[in-house]
Amino acid sequence: MLTMTNLLANLLSQTTPGYSLPGAFYTSDAVFNEDFDRVISRKWLMAGHIAQIPRAGDWFVFRVGGEQVLIVRENEAQVNAFYNVCRHRGSTLCQGERGHGKLLVCPYHAWSFGLDGALRSARLMPEDFRKEDNGLIPAHVRTLHGLIFVCLSEDEPEPFDATFAEFEPILDYHGFDNARVAHEGRYPTAANWKLVVENFLECYHCAPAHPEFCSMHPPEALLAVGAGPSSGPAEAVERYAPVLEAWKAQAEALGRPVYTVDDGPESSHLRALLQRTMREGFLTETPDGQPASRLMGKRVDWDYGRMHLAFSPFSHIVADNDFAMLFRFTPRSAMQTDVDITWLVDGRADEVDLERMTWGWHNTTLQDKQITEDNQDGIRSRHYRPGRYSTQERALITFQDWYLRHLADA
Ligand code: FES
Ligand SMILES: [Fe+2]
Repeated sequence: MLTMTNLLANLLSQTTPGYSLPGAFYTSDAVFNEDFDRVISRKWLMAGHIAQIPRAGDWFVFRVGGEQVLIVRENEAQVNAFYNVCRHRGSTLCQGERGHGKLLVCPYHAWSFGLDGALRSARLMPEDFRKEDNGLIPAHVRTLHGLIFVCLSEDEPEPFDATFAEFEPILDYHGFDNARVAHEGRYPTAANWKLVVENFLECYHCAPAHPEFCSMHPPEALLAVGAGPSSGPAEAVERYAPVLEAWKAQAEALGRPVYTVDDGPESSHLRALLQRTMREGFLTETPDGQPASRLMGKRVDWDYGRMHLAFSPFSHIVADNDFAMLFRFTPRSAMQTDVDITWLVDGRADEVDLERMTWGWHNTTLQDKQITEDNQDGIRSRHYRPGRYSTQERALITFQDWYLRHLADA
């Protein structure tokens, strides 16, 4: 029998730079387990926004692989994360997606836990039972401008502040601290997480797959930087650069931070930040380019731009002037990934046109679900062979390099 190390070494030796990965990387349970231990559980994953748990006692469940993390609002200032496993005999503690209570009560034998995870009551336990030794198991959790991140690492996680401090000015400007949730969409996708991520990191498919998306954006921007700062052909990036620079100058004059982040494969989280222009006359990503809500955050005027920020391949934000979308790509098993979008608007917004706000990315994500599941189905065939990337899929080379480094390093 092949040991895991041998299996991985063997698979790694079959990869070719510039080509998609061998099939087992997208189909095998053994590879998924390695992905979980070496990549997924070691990263800070964006779980949601504090506006999803506004009151003390609100909670929601974030499922990652076979784990469930309970995100709990303890009080105004404190958000906690615990594994959703009862300390009595291990039942899941909170059932369903979300809820509210002063205590977290296990449905099996009614042990109850405080919002701080401490065991409060357990009936008929022996004399020597110590409640203080039976609190919920915490997960690493941090918040950043209203965004909630968790890390499932058993060891000390990668440093949160050093990894994400660079994003603070832009999160502050966009007003994420005071945003509110306008809509949530679930797009569970029957495909390996790397196929979901790869699809999001290239815009080679935009023209054939996404009519709504393409109608809102200038084709030269989609070609050059449609899926991030270094996603398109080098010449296209160069051609688009003067347009982008001119836009940046006018956006900066309105007070908008316009810097770029473009991590290489050696980075811990493969972060990216790109701001770019909308199609002429479009203020935002709606069918007619007209607003769906009020300006977000510290904006004073419309700037005809939009932002794509990646905290990691698993956690992205797309922000227009009047609304923003949090994208969560969460691996569940070898061929199942949760794709969730949370639409945020400014906390002061009273009129929001939900239908026009969600039109672009709801349809785009349904299309992405379809093409990614079709991709997975094809890769299940024994006749699949790794295929060559185009010049508009450059970010996939970077992602693959980043991913393979994690497998090889560990
Ligand atoms: S398993 Fe939770 S109270 Fe028994
Ligand atoms: Fe897409």
